[in-house]
Amino acid sequence: MNEYDSDRIKNALDAEPTDDPKKADIIIVNTCAIREKADQKAFSSLGKYKHLKAKDPSKIIGISGCVAQLYGEALLKKMPHIDFVLGPRAIPKLSKIISEIEREKKRTVETSYDIEELFEVEPYHQKGKVTAFVSVQQGCNKRCTYCIVPRVRGDEVNRPLDDILRETANLVNKGVKEITFIGQTVNSWKENGYKFGDLIRAAGEIDDLERIRFTTSYPRDITKRMIDAMKDVPQVCHHLHLPVQSGSNRVLSKMKRTYTREWYIDTISRLKDAIPDITISTDIIIGFPGESDNDFEETMSLMREIEFESSYSFKFSPRPGTLAADFAKEDAVDPHKASARLTRLQEYQKDITARKNESRIGQIEEVLVEGESRNDSEFLSGRTDHNRILNFKGTKDLIGKSVKVKVTEGLLNSLRGELVV
Ligand code: 5AD
Repeated sequence: MNEYDSDRIKNALDAEPTDDPKKADIIIVNTCAIREKADQKAFSSLGKYKHLKAKDPSKIIGISGCVAQLYGEALLKKMPHIDFVLGPRAIPKLSKIISEIEREKKRTVETSYDIEELFEVEPYHQKGKVTAFVSVQQGCNKRCTYCIVPRVRGDEVNRPLDDILRETANLVNKGVKEITFIGQTVNSWKENGYKFGDLIRAAGEIDDLERIRFTTSYPRDITKRMIDAMKDVPQVCHHLHLPVQSGSNRVLSKMKRTYTREWYIDTISRLKDAIPDITISTDIIIGFPGESDNDFEETMSLMREIEFESSYSFKFSPRPGTLAADFAKEDAVDPHKASARLTRLQEYQKDITARKNESRIGQIEEVLVEGESRNDSEFLSGRTDHNRILNFKGTKDLIGKSVKVKVTEGLLNSLRGELVV
């Protein structure tokens, strides 16, 4: 989501992007507020640009994204070297804001939720890139008690179907082969009587689009209509990221996740009945206020029962204004205990992921080649249908193509293989 917004920011400015802050006329730090750590990172990276502003006061420095929305005006006071504060909904206003700053030398805060042109700026697309994101929704209507997203991104607004399809088709015309639809609860998307399954079916009709992914799905909004579309549309990749957050019904209820452990497990079975080789990844929060040893054991037992392909797990972080931050005032889990639980869960996941990766040795996977491998330019890198990174030896002309690769090695975060010719 943030990567997508950063690319929209690049386009909103119609300027040449540079990675060198010394050369830049405008520096924007796009931020995430989901956990406290992310929020602190924003402040430390802005601090780094203080001396650049001191040397060259004509440089424009701004903060955008969820931290900008959360603290607003206070950021201008806290950091005298920044010129503007821009909320995530306000990206379409960026170019106007920059012109005003240049003209009037006035510092600005734009954090309104009522921006009509919400989807107007499409993201910058790097020439030759074969994968791209398309936003289908902004904001969130769920009210998970730990989550700051509804506060910083506002209520759910769904993008019209035609707009989504037009942006997708444009990207495909530029050579994109794989689209990932993104939204906070992407499968809650609905518009004018259409539901998410209809969006997938419509995207499946776009010529030359080879792969469709979407993230992040909300368990409660997995419907038969959606599963049927995933099954029927051949371009839909057989991987789903489905955050469960906890395996304890008591904790799920305090999180207001609106489903039970049993319901989640049943949903996975329905998905596997329809698409037997589907892989599932998840997000877990450890140490939610009041999480007992027993609750944590329930989460561990869910991990064993489902055996997720991979999982992202986080220690609970109290976010300002959320209900769970209030629960934490009375019921916080001892941080050492939470850390020990997190380590145990992550170690368990490592074993499962390693085992699953190893079990793919000898199989032939279809890989969409995205580019050279980051660590070794002799190797190409791409993803399997199941969203695993697969590196193999090959020449650059294969970039952008779908090829068959035989898996020879299963590492923790990736696979290695050999091109099948
Ligand atoms: N503390 C810890 N983790 C959180 N997440 C969201 N809010 C919090 C929080 N307050 C995690 C959830 C979500 C992922 C994007 O971040 O697991 O799925």
